[in-house]
Amino acid sequence: MVSYKELGLVNSREIFKKAMEGKYAIPAFNFNNMEQMQAIIQACVEAKSPVILQVSSGARKYANQTLLRYMAQGAVEYAKELGCNIPIVLHLDHGDSFELCQSCIEMGFSSVMIDGSHLPYDENVALTKKVVEYAHQYDVTVEGELGVLAGIEDAVVAEHHTYTRPEEVEDFVRKTNVDSLAISIGTSHGANKFKPEQCTRNADGVLVPPPLRFDILKEVEKRIPGFPIVLHGSSSVPQEEVEKINRYGGALKDAIGIPEEQLRQAATSAVCKINIDSDGRLAMTAAVREVLATKPAEFDPRKYLGPARDSLKQLYMHKVRNVLGSAGHAE
Ligand code: G3H
Ligand code: 13P
Ligand code: ZN
Repeated sequence: MVSYKELGLVNSREIFKKAMEGKYAIPAFNFNNMEQMQAIIQACVEAKSPVILQVSSGARKYANQTLLRYMAQGAVEYAKELGCNIPIVLHLDHGDSFELCQSCIEMGFSSVMIDGSHLPYDENVALTKKVVEYAHQYDVTVEGELGVLAGIEDAVVAEHHTYTRPEEVEDFVRKTNVDSLAISIGTSHGANKFKPEQCTRNADGVLVPPPLRFDILKEVEKRIPGFPIVLHGSSSVPQEEVEKINRYGGALKDAIGIPEEQLRQAATSAVCKINIDSDGRLAMTAAVREVLATKPAEFDPRKYLGPARDSLKQLYMHKVRNVLGSAGHAE
């Protein structure tokens, strides 16, 4: 068993408290490889933002759990070397069992999500409570979820949103003693969050998706005041990246995300954590495709992964500075 504290990581408690008071949200960026991790740390050090490094069970299988743990430990040292000891959380994204959460905690994670959102309410409560009781012995914070996002939640596929029922949140938080709660208000995972027929067109002909259900968020805030709320599925799907991918041989169709103004608005509320994965995937893929298409003789991976890393860094800087507002809050 290794404690995250020995690795120089922090849990989410203090940074969420500050985010709530300061009306901003902490970025939770997924990572699977070295370039993504470098880009996240470079951007967050430069912008002086706290950060949550997020690992899904798919990432754990892809990259190997031991390597990921040492990479997170390396991230702490790397940030110091770059000149700013920013708060870094190592978080399990969409944990689907007690055993997985336990294993991550033993490996040095400082925060875990137990996603029982697809279970009947009482089973979600029981599973979340069990994880919380275990995690809190080690001062590890736990995120639960109520409501189901449309799209793909790791292994769980849902056709439609089941919006969070505000009348359940108080009871859930009290019974489970969870530290933060992910809710479903219209976001979803992946790059195809809305169908074009669900959207309207603005004066410039740009597709505008239906707004998030801020009424549900407000009602949740009223029932559990000051409690940290999490938004999953919060990529904005930058159209310039989609176009670049398609220009260089990609075939992305109807890729539509959450408008950034809505995330900015959410970040000033009780939403303390905003999850972004797909936007990073798009930025990286666009950069790699551009190099491979324009320099067909290139075969050194550093020559396409390097530009991909730079593009990712720009994306993350933009998110923390202009969307989430966490830049400058790393002290
Ligand atoms: O919520 C899902 C994240 O985007 C992680 O995706 O399970 O493909 O690693 P993944
Ligand atoms: P996106 O697919 O919108 O980036 O959401 C990521 C996420 O919620 C990870 O848990
Ligand atoms: Zn998610």
